[in-house]
Amino acid sequence: MCGIFAYNWNENSIPFLVEGLTNLEYRGYDSAGVFGITKNGKIFLEKATWKVSNLAWKVELNDKNYKSGIAHTRWATHGGVTELNTHPHFSTNERFFIVHNGIIENYAYLKEELIKKWHKFYSETDTEVVAKLVEYMFEKDLITTISKVTKKLVWAYALWIIDVENPDVLIGTKFGSPMIMWVADDACFLSSDINALSNHCHEFFTLEDNEIVVLENWKHKIFNLWKEVNREWEEMSQEFATAEKWKFETFTEKEINEAPDVLLNALKGRINFEEKTITSETLTELNELDIEQIEIVASGSSYFAWVTASYWFKELAWMPCDVRISSEFLYDTFLPNKKTLYVFISQSGETADVRESVKIVKEKGCLTFWLVNVVGSTVAKMCDFGLYTHSGIEIWVASTKNVIGQLSVLLLMALSFGSKRNLQIKEVRKIIWEIEELSSLMKIQLENTKNIRKVAEKYSKYNDFFFLWRNLLFWTAEECALKLKELTYLHAECYATWELKHWPLALVWPGFPCVALNLKWVLEYKTASNIKEVRARNTTVLWIITKGLDNSELYDDIIEVPETSRILVPFTPMIPMWLLSVEIAKILWKDVDKPQNLAKSVTVE
Ligand code: AGP
Repeated sequence: MCGIFAYNWNENSIPFLVEGLTNLEYRGYDSAGVFGITKNGKIFLEKATWKVSNLAWKVELNDKNYKSGIAHTRWATHGGVTELNTHPHFSTNERFFIVHNGIIENYAYLKEELIKKWHKFYSETDTEVVAKLVEYMFEKDLITTISKVTKKLVWAYALWIIDVENPDVLIGTKFGSPMIMWVADDACFLSSDINALSNHCHEFFTLEDNEIVVLENWKHKIFNLWKEVNREWEEMSQEFATAEKWKFETFTEKEINEAPDVLLNALKGRINFEEKTITSETLTELNELDIEQIEIVASGSSYFAWVTASYWFKELAWMPCDVRISSEFLYDTFLPNKKTLYVFISQSGETADVRESVKIVKEKGCLTFWLVNVVGSTVAKMCDFGLYTHSGIEIWVASTKNVIGQLSVLLLMALSFGSKRNLQIKEVRKIIWEIEELSSLMKIQLENTKNIRKVAEKYSKYNDFFFLWRNLLFWTAEECALKLKELTYLHAECYATWELKHWPLALVWPGFPCVALNLKWVLEYKTASNIKEVRARNTTVLWIITKGLDNSELYDDIIEVPETSRILVPFTPMIPMWLLSVEIAKILWKDVDKPQNLAKSVTVE
């Protein structure tokens, strides 16, 4: 999940390279490095562990007049966080410099072969193996060599190379990992995704697997197995204007505050809000197909969003719905069903497990549907149908507003399928009206956060949490627990409230608080009696409860959420619970936007 960036200008490329890395830092922030070269072959190489700002400071002290260069911000896969393991890497003869995003699965075998040829390695990375393989296999020119070298790699990779003996040329190729590029009359950019380019260009094109791009003095050519290919320009979506924090301390808080608008933006052009009817042509097309059930493949927050949707598909459309974690789907026995709609959900549209799962389903000729946020991403290009969540740029690691966008589109899909089956039009209109009202209720939640900071002060002192749920609230509890773990590094686990008696009660004690989701229309009275069992063991209870459902003897602290219909209940705890995790993270001095060991987009298996 690294971020790589390359740049070919007539001078002063280093600051642009560092700026590109800064825009890509959410893809990995273990370490960063930059390589530059002048027209006459003078080179510059600088590396720094941890944040890009450390590299920027080191670069600041150096001459910057380099014509082109390559840069990399790392999420460590092979080898620890050290300067030696930081990209760019280079060949033994220091002629070829390379940056790479992805994983070379057979790197150990290739490394052994190169050691037998007297190559010595300074790092633990798979990327250094590629640099030395280029040197070892070099013949004629770099394009020929790259074509031969990549045939030996068990992918995925996006890699860019500069040959010190040919400083005017920058070569890139990819398989599996994303690669975007933009060419102007006096500069060329290459990037792992479009976010790094959004304040420099308004159009870009995407490289396909096995293509090789050659940038030479601002001219570019793309080859696929020697045949030159032309690539259509894609318009940079206005949603990818560079994200600014504005009045918020962190990007994550900014994105949480955008959630109420995202709820409705996801439906724009797909619902007639005046008549409360569904107008999405994609969903109308889907309704004309013989689809009997849904199977979903996703990871992380995207996976939990689908669990909620599985309830909606059953309750509103009477459709069976199976939910699969993408990394498991990949290696499970796939039983293809032509009457199943296989839905792939991913904010980035680049998650490797999801991407590879699409291939498995397509190979069997089954119907694939994408629900992604990043326009033009790999998963979106691979599937037969799809819808964007239109959540706008979601830069930082914790996925928040896009989860609301995903849920909003999923609910629309369930309503659309339901309206073709037995769901009454008046029920559809009622839910559409409630969605609009929910957006206003979420805005009110954002205005009333004082209590959350008070609760955060108290609960930041604990190390372990139980999140208790029933029925439709499974995903909500899992998503709340995920954000607490992801942002604060505290331990949390979820369990069905009525299951406590079977074993979890053994863990319950005052130092292991229970966060109990007890929301109206979701077995609220049974949940209350289950929590009485917990209270009888003298534990600490944080009560997430629908306004008015007060059980003061059952809790130590309370976070109230607005009342909605049963279908919309899963949305209501999200904002306060995400903000609670952010506040606890701040109290514990964690980096909210860049949680340790993580990255925004998991582009390697
Ligand atoms: C969520 O906060 C995490 N950052 C992570 O679980 C994320 O949802 C997961 O990696 C899936 O990403 P995707 O939606 O881009 O596929």
